[in-house]
Amino acid sequence: MNLNIVILAAGKGTRMKSDLPKVVHPVGGIPMVQRVVNAGMALGQGHVVLVVGHGAQRVQALFEQQSNVHFALQAEQLGTGHAVSMALNTLQEHGPTLVLYGDVPLIQPESLKPLLQAAQQRQVGLLTLNMQDPTGYGRIVRNEQNQVCGIVEHKDATPEQLAITEINTGILACPTPLLRKWLAGVSNHNAQGEYYLTDIIGMAYRDGVPVIASHPAHHWEVLGVNSRTQQAELERFYQNQQAHKLLEQGVCLADPARIDIRGTLHCKADVFIDAGCVFEGEVHLANGVHIAQNCYLKNVRLGANTRIEPFCHLEQAQVGEGARIGPYARLRPGSELAEHTHVGNFVELKNAKLGPESKANHLSYIGDAQVGARVNIGAGTITCNYDGANKHQTTIEDDAFIGSDTQLVAPIRVGKGATLGAGTTLTKDAPAGALTVSRTKQMSVAGYKRPVKTPK
Ligand code: UD1
Ligand code: CA
Repeated sequence: MNLNIVILAAGKGTRMKSDLPKVVHPVGGIPMVQRVVNAGMALGQGHVVLVVGHGAQRVQALFEQQSNVHFALQAEQLGTGHAVSMALNTLQEHGPTLVLYGDVPLIQPESLKPLLQAAQQRQVGLLTLNMQDPTGYGRIVRNEQNQVCGIVEHKDATPEQLAITEINTGILACPTPLLRKWLAGVSNHNAQGEYYLTDIIGMAYRDGVPVIASHPAHHWEVLGVNSRTQQAELERFYQNQQAHKLLEQGVCLADPARIDIRGTLHCKADVFIDAGCVFEGEVHLANGVHIAQNCYLKNVRLGANTRIEPFCHLEQAQVGEGARIGPYARLRPGSELAEHTHVGNFVELKNAKLGPESKANHLSYIGDAQVGARVNIGAGTITCNYDGANKHQTTIEDDAFIGSDTQLVAPIRVGKGATLGAGTTLTKDAPAGALTVSRTKQMSVAGYKRPVKTPK
């Protein structure tokens, strides 16, 4: 289906008190206007036009990679009708036009389908909502036959009209040639001196074009963001929705009100997630994964039955099944842990592979390293991978044992089954099967007297 999608995003968002244009602020980790574009695109082959104004460049920059998103500039914000007019000459003539808002980020494609159906049948589809407190919104005016015959803005409404509780969400779909015709007739003779998009509803009625009103599946889909408070409210609606989807999929959440998903979380069966965890990007959790409280995972893939203990920070990491990470572990980008590995407290890995059953249980830095299977890395082991200019590789072969407090000055290799004595500073490769130790000789001074403090 040919479909035009006009998204209004020219407003400044003064009440956000931010240098960033309002529609660039995120909900669920994704800029609001990006969410709206995604919802529109989910409807099929839409020709998307963003009407930009304030902070136009910042908004446009979000879509640099998307050549199918087009822009129309509204230099002065003279009203919603004026805004849509700015997009008219970029629209395809065939198919309807859907109007969405860059600051109404949670709209779901399902709720838009009835509007498109109406617009494809030479009708106008209008998304409306009944509200207990309709203050501020445009009211839906109906005739004696209950047909929609107009929208009156709050500031222009009579006391009788103010009592109407059915409000205009602003979202509508309309045959494109009719939209052109009606917009050409919109004036700004009203309380706000603005060109109202809503005036086209009365024009449709007068032209005998039926206006079909439908409601969104959830009221939060049509809530707009004008302030940080409203942004925070929508964030909670969104997160609550995510959490309940996970619960329905069979994920066990310690508290659905204390999880934040700013991307996509894919969970297999019997996953447990404790309170205070944050997920970003694409996170994949296999069967039986257990994530304890206050963990941060970004673009991570965890194998079956792996346990992440409290307070871990994992980014761009892959972990095999049955592994145990944390508490207080940090897996930086390029960490690849095989099955049944253990990474304990205050251990940092970066660009490092750990083979099956290998362990680094305490206080270590393993960077730019290839570690084999069944290796034991003692407390306080450090790969000295950086010489101030270049990064160098450390290789530790299978079954090696690295004593505590060891420095591995890369590039370096520890052979298969090698043992490094505690406190070794390894500057030459350690041969397989041997004990390598670098240590100053121990001595004792008999009868040594410690200095004593002189009393004052
Ligand atoms: C509009 C509707 C009102 C509806 C309400 C729902 C009109 C005249 N009124 O009122 O019936 O109940 O939305 O929230 O349409 N914008 C531009 N350029 C402009 C004007 C607005 O891009 O020149 C953008 C704004 O940034 C905003 C959106 O359009 O994202 C809505 O504009 P706003 O001025 O907030 O409309 P309301 O007065 O709330
Ligand atoms: Ca508004």
